[in-house]
Amino acid sequence: MISRRMFIQGACGYVLGVMSVGGYSCLLEPRWLEIRKVFINIHALPKQFEGMTIAQLSDIHHCKYVPREFIKKCVRKVNTLSPDMIALTGDFVYGSKEFISSVAEELAELKAKEGVFAVLGNHDCKDGTVDILSKKGIRVLINEHIPLYRKKDYLFIAGVDDLWAGKLDLETTLKGTDDKPKVLLCHNPDAIEKIKHTNVDFVMAGHTHGGQVCLPLYGPPVVYSKFGARYASGLFHEEKTTMYVNKGIGVSNFPIRFFARPEITLFTLQNSAQII
Ligand SMILES: [Fe+2]
Repeated sequence: MISRRMFIQGACGYVLGVMSVGGYSCLLEPRWLEIRKVFINIHALPKQFEGMTIAQLSDIHHCKYVPREFIKKCVRKVNTLSPDMIALTGDFVYGSKEFISSVAEELAELKAKEGVFAVLGNHDCKDGTVDILSKKGIRVLINEHIPLYRKKDYLFIAGVDDLWAGKLDLETTLKGTDDKPKVLLCHNPDAIEKIKHTNVDFVMAGHTHGGQVCLPLYGPPVVYSKFGARYASGLFHEEKTTMYVNKGIGVSNFPIRFFARPEITLFTLQNSAQII
């Protein structure tokens, strides 16, 4: 039989446990940055691009729960990685357009010799956002591509409109490209269903936040994807396309993260034909 004392001790333990998990997921993990370094194999990568590095920041969701100071810290961290190029894969704000100016001011401090490129996410309003980011030197790609030259060789950097909030058009995006490697920025990883039928080599995506809450031995119970948790985070190979899904640095819906730490990814491109 459970005594009154045992009951009180159990109840206190339960409350302390809930408070610890709550404190960790609300206060600690959302600011506990993870830096992931990933090698990406690209067939026929021109020699000049061997070892090129790209830093990816995604799903910043600047709002009262993702303060400017944290974004500043993330920008500083990206700059310490000295990437050749920076990719921003959408969802710059959450809930209100009023935050776009301040997030753009922080992103203006990003430094990469090959440039800073961006696509919009489902939380971004095209009106205003494109102008504000462009004025800070960020090249926003909406169903378009540019060639990136090193000496006389090149590859393509492309970006698509958002799958949910925009009109994702791969045909327009890739029109005029040739057989040189293609690196694509795409907010929503569900688009891999279409992208895998093209000759895009590498896709950087975000959107899922890694589920934001991951249960031990189960994974994320909620992922905003028609594929459930399949593309929640990490590296995927579909047909000839490699896709990486970044967990983002911000939060949406609930200001918590649990076993889904905010992430900055640093990719290094390498020629798969030269890997023994
Ligand atoms: Fe997001």
